Amino acid sequence: MPTWNATDYAKNSSEQQKWARELIAKLHLRGDERVLDLGCGDGKVTAEIAEQLPRGRIVGVDLSQEMIDFATRTFHRPNLSFDHADARSLNFENEFDIVFSNAVLHWVYDHEPILRGIHRSLKTGGRILLQMGGRGNARGMLATATELTHDPRWSRYFTDFNFRYGFHGPEEYTRWLTAAGFHAGRVELIPKDMTHATPERFAGWVRTTWIPWTDRIPPAERETFIADLVARYLELHPVDEAGRVHVAMVRLEVEATA
Ligand SMILES: C[S@@+](CC[C@H](N)C(=O)[O-])C[C@H]1O[C@@H](n2cnc3c(N)ncnc32)[C@H](O)[C@@H]1O
Repeated sequence: MPTWNATDYAKNSSEQQKWARELIAKLHLRGDERVLDLGCGDGKVTAEIAEQLPRGRIVGVDLSQEMIDFATRTFHRPNLSFDHADARSLNFENEFDIVFSNAVLHWVYDHEPILRGIHRSLKTGGRILLQMGGRGNARGMLATATELTHDPRWSRYFTDFNFRYGFHGPEEYTRWLTAAGFHAGRVELIPKDMTHATPERFAGWVRTTWIPWTDRIPPAERETFIADLVARYLELHPVDEAGRVHVAMVRLEVEATA
């Protein structure tokens, strides 16, 4: 699995946080729910949800122990806790009213075991609100990253590279939800423009989240690889008149009940 740097992620994830806030608004919380934040990362989104649960509680889980350690150190509330867990093998039973997840599940290709685990974790009538990269997400970035894997300067680090995102669409997702026991509600692809204020901010996002690629590069050459990736992307997708970098994203948003 990719190695996440929690401190760097915390500093370079304002776009994920912005989208998470839009998603939280769609939860319409009463304030007494028990919530699971699946793939909580550095914990700042989980802590924001905790503030809206004066009579409820939230658990953030993540596969990265470094993220969990960072979140546990950084955020303290009586109704908030963090734990290490893999979304593919959740072992909660009948515990939550809501499972929430932002910008996580596309890191796993096969979503069927995840959906079965989420279903088991929910109380009867519980609900899910998930947003992840969907079909067509970050196509321009993916094309640039793929191009670099064939570049003579970098190709030797990618000979057996077979990472693929789980960027899925509503048709298969609805089928998987039903097979896992859910009543599928809204399952839709939402195009979104990700905006980075400067090329440096964009490079920060590349460094912290394009880790399946950057992990392959020896540390001494990593910054050069990132600079190449950024430069090539900007050649094909120049900054706008305000110097901002845009990445065309497509999110899959999923609402369903157990
Ligand atoms: C882009 S971060 C999103 C973090 C947070 N949800 C947010 O909105 O800022 C993706 C997170 O997914 C976690 N992740 C990836 N695969 C996972 C898995 N199989 N189970 C649990 N967490 C996973 C990573 O460790 C990382 O912290």
